[in-house]
Amino acid sequence: MRVNYPYLHQQFAEVDHIFNDLRELVSTGEFTLGPYVEKFEKKFGDYIGVKHVISTNTGTDALILALKAVGVKAGDEVITVANSFYASAGAIVAAGGTPVFVDCDKRMQIDVTKIESAITKKTRAILPVHWMGVPADMDTILEIAKRNGIEVVEDACPAVGAEINGKRCGTFGKASGFSFHPLKPLNVWGDGGAIVTNDDKVDEYLRLYRNHGMTDRDHIEMWGINSRIQPILAVVASRVLDTVDHSNGVRIRNAKILDEGLRDLPDSIELPDRPDKYKSVYQLYVIRARRRDELLNFLRSKEIECCIHYPVPLHLQKAAENLGYKRGDFPESEKQADEILTLPAHQYINEEQIEYTLEQVHKFYKG
Ligand SMILES: Cc1ncc(COP(=O)(O)O)c(C=O)c1O
Repeated sequence: MRVNYPYLHQQFAEVDHIFNDLRELVSTGEFTLGPYVEKFEKKFGDYIGVKHVISTNTGTDALILALKAVGVKAGDEVITVANSFYASAGAIVAAGGTPVFVDCDKRMQIDVTKIESAITKKTRAILPVHWMGVPADMDTILEIAKRNGIEVVEDACPAVGAEINGKRCGTFGKASGFSFHPLKPLNVWGDGGAIVTNDDKVDEYLRLYRNHGMTDRDHIEMWGINSRIQPILAVVASRVLDTVDHSNGVRIRNAKILDEGLRDLPDSIELPDRPDKYKSVYQLYVIRARRRDELLNFLRSKEIECCIHYPVPLHLQKAAENLGYKRGDFPESEKQADEILTLPAHQYINEEQIEYTLEQVHKFYKG
């Protein structure tokens, strides 16, 4: 039995309704921003529970622009977590700032007990990541930020639909970035992203900056860039948004079955803590495994397509050499990098495939 990791061919097997919408868009010639983008922004804002949505070219751009909008500039430090995707740190650098890393905790999220000691006079913002679609501890982060007079920008790229006590991720910081990359919960046919905010000034700045700083076709108020979402993709995003709660629900169910099936291997498999107040959407379903590399190869030989997100933490990447970090600085992130394994748990994995995955993991450890 194959347990497939890619699922886009399944998700987009039936797309007549999207093509109908696209036909309508094409007939209008509204190919840069315009009503289809506005309609999506309103719909996404209602879904997340925010006043403003500024859609962008990518999730990375959403983070860069959000950081700029809260005032990050050359010489500023921005605190983020060592175990994330490259863009969390890359966006800080692209905004002109310097990433300052903090270790992760047993939930694989930024360790909030380590944030305060990373704050310096140069700290402008904290960029917590809802890594894997699992919420970071926003209550504590907001409290630290307030006490120290610094801004919070959420990297909510993998976390459309994730919540803390019923409040959606992306609504806690001054501005937050989402990704619509094909492997994210709200995915489009290419790259896309959005910034969300309740702050009118941030919205005003970003709407201009994203579109060359143009107030109208003949005037610019500031030097900006073009980071507009493609209307074609806004149309796709609008349709996928209708199904995101359902697909997140299936992922949550799959994660639960996997968790339950792995609990009887406490000497071999460690599951992240999952406190009730956090609703995770499992963009990635990640466990910690003893003899990880052997297990990975074994499962792959059984056609279970698992992977590692990621084997090298950000502070040990070549790109980070100039930041002066060394092995040993973030022991939890480093240990996890050697032990983590992502199992397929997406919305097109069925119970039979989950049972097969569990059976093979047991076979590997118990023979
Ligand atoms: C945590 C995180 N931040 C940022 C990004 C960047 O998003 P994008 O690929 O849309 O630029 C991603 C995903 O790719 C991500 O997982």
